[in-house]
Amino acid sequence: MGQFISFEGPEGSGKTTVLKELYERLNTSYDVIMTREPGGIKISESIRALLLDSDDEMDERTEALLFAAARRQHLVEKILPQLNKGGIVLCDRFVDSSLSYQGYAREIGVEEVKAINEFAIESVYPDLTLYFDVPAEVGLNRIKDNNRDSNRLDKEKIEFHHKVSEGYKQLIAEYPERIKVIDATQSLESVIEDAYQVIVNFLNQV
Ligand SMILES: Nc1ncnc2c1ncn2[C@@H]1O[C@H](COP(=O)(O)OP(=O)(O)OP(=O)(O)O)[C@@H](O)[C@H]1O
Ligand SMILES: [Mg+2]
Repeated sequence: MGQFISFEGPEGSGKTTVLKELYERLNTSYDVIMTREPGGIKISESIRALLLDSDDEMDERTEALLFAAARRQHLVEKILPQLNKGGIVLCDRFVDSSLSYQGYAREIGVEEVKAINEFAIESVYPDLTLYFDVPAEVGLNRIKDNNRDSNRLDKEKIEFHHKVSEGYKQLIAEYPERIKVIDATQSLESVIEDAYQVIVNFLNQV
């Protein structure tokens, strides 16, 4: 089996920027792919558009089920084949996002959201998760400052984003072996360097 590495954290914490840079660095010595959630493949990108681009009101359980459905297809079609051939997967968000956003912040319940995700992922959890730790306000301001288009979830009230961070903190306490915290308030260069060290140390010990 290969190694499955997910990137988690609030909006604007640097996940996508750092992931792309680490992909370029690792690509020279490892069989590695980068992908993202929701999305990564055609069916799941269609579900992503439903989830993130529409301003229509969506029932919160419908939202959780669509995220889980997108995750299932992405896992089967893209992540598992790469892991089965011994490769590395760098994935921008995975199941922890659903537990924090839908389970905790939307108050569906972490255990309930974990149950529908268990159906979707059949216990394929990441081997390593990097958590990009930054206050919600800092991340949201980065997105604003850089004029990135904001999506349906970015537009939630600040209280929602605080709850997302609380949800993540609970997961970090629950899975201290799997989830490694990166101080993402530092300069981008330092964040990249810290994240790279965590991944290389991990790959050297497996
Ligand atoms: N450490 C940093 N210091 C300053 N700016 C940063 C830092 N990390 C990322 N940025 C900038 O912040 C913006 C948001 O970063 P990025 O899109 O990587 O975040 P993200 O975690 O992927 O967000 P989202 O969850 O919304 O996808 C980008 O314009 C990026 O260049
Ligand atoms: Mg991103």
